[in-house]
Amino acid sequence: MATYNQLIHKYTKTFNDKGLSANMLKAFIFELCNDNNVNLYLEMDNECLPVIEEKYEEGVKRLLNNEPMNYVLGYSYFYGYKMLVNNDVLIPRYETEELVGLILSKYDEYYPKMNIDICDVGTGSGAIAIALKKEEDRLNVYASDISSEAVAVAKENAKLNDAEVNFMVGSMLEPYIENGIKVDVLVSNPPYIKNDETLENSVKDYEPHLALFGGDDGLKFYRIIFENALKVVKDNGLMFFEMGYDQKENLTNLAKEYFPNAIVEVFKDINKKDRMLMIKL
Ligand SMILES: C[S@@+](CC[C@H](N)C(=O)[O-])C[C@H]1O[C@@H](n2cnc3c(N)ncnc32)[C@H](O)[C@@H]1O
Repeated sequence: MATYNQLIHKYTKTFNDKGLSANMLKAFIFELCNDNNVNLYLEMDNECLPVIEEKYEEGVKRLLNNEPMNYVLGYSYFYGYKMLVNNDVLIPRYETEELVGLILSKYDEYYPKMNIDICDVGTGSGAIAIALKKEEDRLNVYASDISSEAVAVAKENAKLNDAEVNFMVGSMLEPYIENGIKVDVLVSNPPYIKNDETLENSVKDYEPHLALFGGDDGLKFYRIIFENALKVVKDNGLMFFEMGYDQKENLTNLAKEYFPNAIVEVFKDINKKDRMLMIKL
């Protein structure tokens, strides 16, 4: 039997040798402790509960294979809400929380206290749709993904967070067009990585490629959405997109081509990178 402290140190050198951050070990056991109502910092030198030790030993093997910790744990946090994740869904990113923040601030500006319809295209774990609904109950939220496995995870997350979201399975805007759904605000964090871009192993080997790659120039899904947007977004509606930090010029040109009379604006994230596109029709 080992103490929590001993378990953390047992693998520190192995992690360092592999170029992995040993802080991950502490973060990992901290989460396992939390799940089992153990306060790690008070119990550091006490014997580890067998159930935690077993999960830790098993999880460390996966972490050593570069598997992201959130997949090993089976959950992540987004905008303060717990989201279940597995290999069918992208682990929601911090940048995307900023997109949610931007949408909420623009909602206050353009639709103060109004009940409006909003859709999240390519919802994955459901993170954006669920966070928006939790933060602003006046929103009537739709969310869709081409992956039925992802939508199953998103539905579980909506239940876990007690959020009312209408989920659909289908490609890009098709489910909305087929069901005659029109929205005031369309949101999407589509796959936008160029097909030939090199990715970290932990992303390339574990995250769904369906969620990552956006064609040769990374803009394939924006084109598909822009082409059909007027069938789904109401007059004077808004669209919000996450984008790659180097896509500002190409993406704003594309947006202006499709929507010559719209206001097209790019917002920077906390790291001063161009990350969010807003189109006001
Ligand atoms: C970058 S991920 C975003 C996931 C989630 N919205 C988030 O921000 O964490 C892109 C999502 O688009 C979905 N997707 C890929 N191709 C699609 C298509 N043709 N139609 C609808 N969704 C698609 C993927 O399954 C994936 O869930």
